[in-house]
Amino acid sequence: MSRLILVSNRVAVPGPEAPRQAGGLAVAVNAALKGRDGIWFGWSGKVTEDRAAPRPTVVERQRRTFVTLDLSNVDFQEYYNGFANRVLWPILHYRVDLAEFTSVELAGYLRVNALFANALSPFLLPDDVIWVHDYHLLPLAKELRALGHENPIGFFLHIPCPPPDMLMVLPQHAETVGALTHYDLVGLQTEADADNLRRYFEIRHGIAGRTREAFEFGGSYVHVRAFPVAIDTAAYAQAALNAMKSRLVVGLRDSLGGRRLILGVDRLDYSKGIPGRVQAFGHLLDTRPEWRGQVTYLQITPKSRAEVPEYIEIDRQVSSIVGQINGRHGEADWTPIRYVNRSYSRAALAGLFRSANVGLVTPLRDGMNLVAKEFVAAQDPENPGVLVLSRFAGAAAELDGALIVNPHEVEAVAEAIATALDMPIEERKERHARMFAHLAEYDIDRWAHQFLTALSESRQRPRMLGRPRQLFAS
Ligand code: G6P
Repeated sequence: MSRLILVSNRVAVPGPEAPRQAGGLAVAVNAALKGRDGIWFGWSGKVTEDRAAPRPTVVERQRRTFVTLDLSNVDFQEYYNGFANRVLWPILHYRVDLAEFTSVELAGYLRVNALFANALSPFLLPDDVIWVHDYHLLPLAKELRALGHENPIGFFLHIPCPPPDMLMVLPQHAETVGALTHYDLVGLQTEADADNLRRYFEIRHGIAGRTREAFEFGGSYVHVRAFPVAIDTAAYAQAALNAMKSRLVVGLRDSLGGRRLILGVDRLDYSKGIPGRVQAFGHLLDTRPEWRGQVTYLQITPKSRAEVPEYIEIDRQVSSIVGQINGRHGEADWTPIRYVNRSYSRAALAGLFRSANVGLVTPLRDGMNLVAKEFVAAQDPENPGVLVLSRFAGAAAELDGALIVNPHEVEAVAEAIATALDMPIEERKERHARMFAHLAEYDIDRWAHQFLTALSESRQRPRMLGRPRQLFAS
């Protein structure tokens, strides 16, 4: 089997000095590398003052090679804090109003992509399959092709892909989203995301095959398909069961004093809808006095991208709303909302999910949201908690046993929380079983396998597509 070269902005090198795990992306990458030789390439998570071209650090662990680069402070500011997280992130999350564009930062973004390609190039063999992840690296295939690499190159976008009108808000979008045409296969989270990219490619004069799964641009082909990212369902369910005996979970359960537990777990990010969710819980306490003192809401929210101004603002906003509600409803012996900014291991979170009666996952927009899937996988099938899920998370297309809400409607979210808290056991079990069966079937191994199979097929299909395309064109 050919080697697999994975490229992502963050790389989770195993070991004591590991940078912060890149969440679902790290799980996905590890699943793709399972049982095959490969390299995981990307940023080390370290920033240096040195502006000279960085030298890759190579670490070997269990048949895998981790190759990482430090970023200079200028590159970190322009590429990561700047273009990736102040332009691409908000626009792809439908928050055009928050985008802060400068051409200096776009130049920094393109420069770092070229730098990644140059640093990766010497490690590549002609038979390697290359799989690039996420919005930080949209132009990477273009750079690799310019260096002469003809390998199959796939791309997976972990975050949403908005409609073409919104993509075209990106200044010089041809340089970034437009550069996706240099991949053989572009994977997106949902059919809606895939359709948005297809419409963008049509506007860019890509010639579509009959199924609109492949587009021709000047003699080369790019395939566009949805591959909803998944989790390691069986392992996660087991981890949740094991974690029930951990000090953290036992301590949490003791501290609840028999009260019900509502749980939210999100990076501190404006796309996650945390202020509206906290307000919904406040509204529940305002309007349903029977729940006062009977339920505790634990919101675990590690801080993220702390130098970006919009993240400083959301931090201030959430703290202030939490403070108001705790002040309004708290008692000497009961704090309604426990707001925690630290991060916990995946295993610890699995135990917390299993302890919760209600999981709140209410992003304003989210590519998939793996917390929703993990919450379901972690539940006790005999006494499962209820998931309240935003219709704007990619996961809503799959998790039909959740209570689906519009996160912009605070009263409706409060109502859904009350419904979840009151839901009879038979209904909880039935909803959970349906969702768990789906997650057990479409797990992360299947996801990685489907993407990689489609990537290898994408190299054979264009010849077959040639004829129907010409029929269409005539
Ligand atoms: C999202 C992105 C990932 C990213 C993660 C954490 O899930 O899709 O690519 O790694 O957020 O964000 P950070 O900026 O800390 O890497």
